[in-house]
Amino acid sequence: MALLKIAHIGHPVLRERAREVGLEELRSPEMQRFIDDLVETMRDASGAGLAANQVHRPVRICAIEVESNPRYPYKPRIPLTILVNPVLEPLTDETFDNFEGCLSVPNLRGLVPRHARLRVRALDRHGAPLDFEVAGISAGTFQHECDHLDGILFVDRVRDTRSLCTWAEFDRFHRERFVERVREIVARYGS
Ligand code: NI
Repeated sequence: MALLKIAHIGHPVLRERAREVGLEELRSPEMQRFIDDLVETMRDASGAGLAANQVHRPVRICAIEVESNPRYPYKPRIPLTILVNPVLEPLTDETFDNFEGCLSVPNLRGLVPRHARLRVRALDRHGAPLDFEVAGISAGTFQHECDHLDGILFVDRVRDTRSLCTWAEFDRFHRERFVERVREIVARYGS
């Protein structure tokens, strides 16, 4: 396996709509190796997720995993999930404000409104269909990763740019209140 180079904001690959992946292409040893590398790169960078176009490959594949993450210690756990050609469907008009960061936007965080409940349809890494619901903080993570595949970064969705902050200032001034909010969201939506 290999660590892949992560593209940063300003690189055009982050702004392209990534293309759908065919079954034969998905099942090829080369693409399976790429998915292993995507997961290894996500884990190495302590990301909660990583989309293929963030590592310069504009195909509709993303990895999501939250396991006691030092970047996001308050996030509910999500087992490793690979989404191929994902389609998200909001199940409610309810939204919540999620404090997001991104490996492609170094040292910046901001508040992003996200749908509180989603239906997720996709293929897994072997081409088997996935169909499940996700809610709360975890739903924010799924929306963030799938946005990448459409060339959208979290900064595009920040409604109040005064919420933007560095990671150090997040820890100093915003973290405590947001962690309290996360507890309320987890109590309400179960994740
Ligand atoms: Ni991101």
